[in-house]
Amino acid sequence: MSDFTVKTTTQEPDLPTAMQVVYQWNYDPEIEELRNLYVKAAEAQWIGEKDLDWDRPIDLVKFSTTPLGAGVPIEKTSYWRSLPEETRSELVRRTAAFRLSQFLHGEQGALMVAAQLVNAVPHTDAKFYAATQTMDEARHVEVFARYIAKLDEIRPIAPSLKGILDQTLETGDWMKKLVGMQIVVEGLALYAFREMRNLTEEPLLKNLLTYVARDEARHHAYGVQYIERCVPCLGAKERAELEDFALECARSLIDRNAQGFFTTLLQIWAEIGVDPAVMFASLHDEREEITRDLPRGRRLGPVQGFVIPTLRRCGLLSERVAEHFHGFLKDNFGARVAGANVEEFLQYLPELPADTARWVMGELQ
Ligand SMILES: [Fe+2]
Ligand SMILES: [Fe+2]
Repeated sequence: MSDFTVKTTTQEPDLPTAMQVVYQWNYDPEIEELRNLYVKAAEAQWIGEKDLDWDRPIDLVKFSTTPLGAGVPIEKTSYWRSLPEETRSELVRRTAAFRLSQFLHGEQGALMVAAQLVNAVPHTDAKFYAATQTMDEARHVEVFARYIAKLDEIRPIAPSLKGILDQTLETGDWMKKLVGMQIVVEGLALYAFREMRNLTEEPLLKNLLTYVARDEARHHAYGVQYIERCVPCLGAKERAELEDFALECARSLIDRNAQGFFTTLLQIWAEIGVDPAVMFASLHDEREEITRDLPRGRRLGPVQGFVIPTLRRCGLLSERVAEHFHGFLKDNFGARVAGANVEEFLQYLPELPADTARWVMGELQ
C-alpha cells in the first residue's frame, strides 16, 4: 500500500454544496408507501460480486445485438451494411463502452445525491429509503465499472451530464435534488436501461441491467411517491421554481448542440475508420426507405415518453412549463414528434406505465 495517498490524482476539485442537514425526532412510520418501498428495497438487495457471472468472457457476437442508442437509425443504411463485419462489431463495442461510461458516471452522481438525501429530507421514512438507495447506487457503480473494464475502457463524462449532476448536488433544496435525480436523471436512465436490456443478447450485460433496472424502478417510484405528496403543500412560487429546475435539467440533457454527446460518438466512430460524412449521406439519401420500415406512429424519446409524464403525475406540469417543454422538443425533434402546438403535445403525452418494474423488463408497453 505504499502508493496510497490522501489526495488522489483522479479526483475532481472539491464542489461546494449548499445541502441542509435535518434531524427528525419522530421515528414512527408516517408515509406508508415509502416505508413499504424501504422494506422492498431491503429484501431486494443483491451482491455484485456473487450474483453476476464475472468469469464468463463477453460474447462479442451476441454483443453486436446491443443497440447503439445514437438516436438515428444508422444500422438501416447501405453504408452500414457495406462495412466489414469486424468494423461493425468494433463500432458497437466502443459505442456501448461510451454509453455505459455515461451510465457509470451518472451512477456515481446518484450515489452522492442519495447520500445527501439521507441528511436533507425531513421525514424518517424518506431518510430510510434514501439509505437503501445509497447502497444500491454503490453497487451500480461497482458493476458498471467492472463490466466496462471487461469490454473496453472508461470514457470521460459528457459535459451535459456533469452539469446536471453538479446542479443537483449543489442545490440546498432537497425537493430539487429529488426532481433532478429521481425524476429526470433516473427517468432517462430507466428508459435507456430498458432499451439496452431488452435488445442485447449478451448474457452478462443483460443480467447486470436486469438487476440494475429493477433497483432503478424503485428509485423512480421513491421520487414520484414523495414528490407527489409534497407538491400540494407548496406555494405557487416554490412550485414554479421546482418546475423550472426540472425543465432546465431535461433541457441540458436533450439540446443536441449543448451536449456534445453526438460529437463524441462521431469521434469514436472515426477512430475505427467509419466516415461519418458518408454515413450521414447514406442516411439522407435512403431516408424514405428507412422510415417506411420503421414502426408507424410517433417515436417518443425518454423526455417526452417518460420524464414529462412523470412530472405531470407529480403535479409539476403547469401550462406555463408545458409550453417551454413543447418549444424545446419541437426545436430538437420537429413538430411530427413534439406536436404542432402545446395542445397536441399534451394530448399525445402517454400515461406512466401502471407498473414501472414490469415495464422496464419489457412486459408492458
Ligand atoms: Fe443506479
Ligand atoms: Fe438509481
